[in-house]
Amino acid sequence: MAQAYLDIRNLKKHYGEGEALLQVLRGIDVQLERGEICVLLGPSGSGKSTFLNMVGGLEPADSGSIVVNGTNIATLPDKKLVEYRRKELGFVFQFYNLVPDLTVQENIEVCAYLSKNPLPMKPLLESLGLYEHRHKFPHQISGGQQQRCAIGRALVKNPGLLLCDEPTGALDYKTSKEILQLMEEVNQQYGCTIVIVTHNDAIRHMAHRVLRLRDGVMAEDSVNEHVLPAMQLEW
Ligand SMILES: Nc1ncnc2c1ncn2[C@@H]1O[C@H](COP(=O)(O)OP(=O)(O)O)[C@@H](O)[C@H]1O
Ligand SMILES: [Mg+2]
Repeated sequence: MAQAYLDIRNLKKHYGEGEALLQVLRGIDVQLERGEICVLLGPSGSGKSTFLNMVGGLEPADSGSIVVNGTNIATLPDKKLVEYRRKELGFVFQFYNLVPDLTVQENIEVCAYLSKNPLPMKPLLESLGLYEHRHKFPHQISGGQQQRCAIGRALVKNPGLLLCDEPTGALDYKTSKEILQLMEEVNQQYGCTIVIVTHNDAIRHMAHRVLRLRDGVMAEDSVNEHVLPAMQLEW
């Protein structure tokens, strides 16, 4: 059988030593196919961000493998890891991480320069609903628009893998649903694989795959047979 797009085996991670030792991930196995939307649930402190950061090459694993599109990034030297992050990966954080002195369009452009085949700027700005706001600075737009801009930064590279850590965690209900709809569109339009970390259980209904972290293991790994459009989610 062909290897999955994302193939994680026996992934382990701890923090601290001795009395303060915290075994956050105790041996995680996950396989995702290209183009899947995956929602990763779990209580606060269960290791969701730790997991995502390791898949994003931002934190080293203790042991195990993380194969993305055929490359085990858990054993890559730093230089190659930077290349992986540039080429393959889009990362969206809960708190936007925009550059305050750059306009909306410039924030997205600096990320476009990192890619060999960036998406064209105008249609991207339009699908983000930011075209008419493109010359504004982050402090001049709403939280939802800032998160759209952050998603634009991740998407402009046309990444194979989009990792989102609580992308709606700081947003109201209506804006959250718009952001989730945008992710759904991006998935359908560009076929990128998306992992959304959230503690909002309702979001699971828009995913093809649902994972749940608890006590350092994947307590749930299920296929969602009845995927709902993000628009229809309620919580
Ligand atoms: N850099 C760190 N050093 C020590 N402990 C950490 C560090 N990062 C996270 N932790 C701990 O690891 C556990 C998992 O954290 P995290 O992955 O942020 O959980 P989640 O994103 O599910 O809320 C928590 O108990 C947290 O305090
Ligand atoms: Mg977290």
